[in-house]
Amino acid sequence: MGRRGGARGAWRGAMEAEELRVGFVGAGRMAGGLGRGLLRAGKVPASNIIVSAPSDRNLAEWREWGCRTTHCNLEVLQESTVVFLATKPHVLPTVLQELRPAVTSQHLLISLAAGVTLQKLQRLLPTGTKVLRLMPNLPCVLQVGAAVFSRGTGVGDGDAALLQSLLSPCGMCEEVPEPYINIHTGLSGSGVAYVYLFAEAMAEGAVKMGMPMGLASKIAAQTLLGAAKMLLETGEHPAKLRGDVCTPGGTTIHGLYQLEKGALRATVMNAVQAATERACEMGED
Ligand SMILES: NC(=O)c1ccc[n+]([C@@H]2O[C@H](COP(=O)([O-])OP(=O)(O)OC[C@H]3O[C@@H](n4cnc5c(N)ncnc54)[C@H](OP(=O)(O)O)[C@@H]3O)[C@@H](O)[C@H]2O)c1
Repeated sequence: MGRRGGARGAWRGAMEAEELRVGFVGAGRMAGGLGRGLLRAGKVPASNIIVSAPSDRNLAEWREWGCRTTHCNLEVLQESTVVFLATKPHVLPTVLQELRPAVTSQHLLISLAAGVTLQKLQRLLPTGTKVLRLMPNLPCVLQVGAAVFSRGTGVGDGDAALLQSLLSPCGMCEEVPEPYINIHTGLSGSGVAYVYLFAEAMAEGAVKMGMPMGLASKIAAQTLLGAAKMLLETGEHPAKLRGDVCTPGGTTIHGLYQLEKGALRATVMNAVQAATERACEMGED
């Protein structure tokens, strides 16, 4: 398996030989989303994936996929080279205390825990442990996620490339400076909930005008999907695409005027700021 720093060739070799062994400590929603992505894309054979959790609640599904499961976190570490740490943040320090004696320089640990900084992770792990901090969002479970990650000291380009390759079936995955991770939480992790609220409000507007909720909800969701695809595929600034829909004196400019009057723009900016600040506070707790 790959060695510390710049081990791109070794990792790629391992992946081609289907020798890569991937572990998940924590088997919940986010781990499941990433696991499903890896399996659907054939990135790692199911028999090379091992997952731990205290109860069988989530493990049964992994067994159906052909993965190995255990209640012992140490077993995951002993059986894997790449280990996703996918417990809730408040549980992670205890889990790391348990794993610490068995961590070697061969391991690449990837923490998903919101608010837990690389500095804290490195403090809780043996000196020189290769650790990455990954922040996905929930649509990763449907392979349309937006994930960012930052690397700790001693993590080489090969390790970062390996993570990007593993996550490629789950959506976009960009390396960013660590302070951007909390901004990503405010923009995208929490952002999906802003979009749900917006979708709900759009649908309720249609209900107010006489359309049934089921149909209105479906149309609102498809409208968001279409608008998001236009943004991504044209690469245009949102203001340009918005302008394209505005006929002078037409319906859209009348609707947009009401949104601006209700301070939608400033409200959304404040929401991203508030959630980012909360993510920073949670990291300090
Ligand atoms: N959900 C999101 O939108 C989102 C977005 C970005 C990042 N994250 C991060 O992803 C991580 C997981 O979130 P989630 O939503 O997937 O949580 P979740 O669905 O509650 O899953 C947590 C998992 O951790 C397991 N667990 C609890 N204590 C454990 C222990 N001592 N050792 C091993 N496993 C243990 C649970 O076991 P049982 O199966 O027995 O309950 C469960 O499988 C969190 O750190 C969160 O900050 C989540």
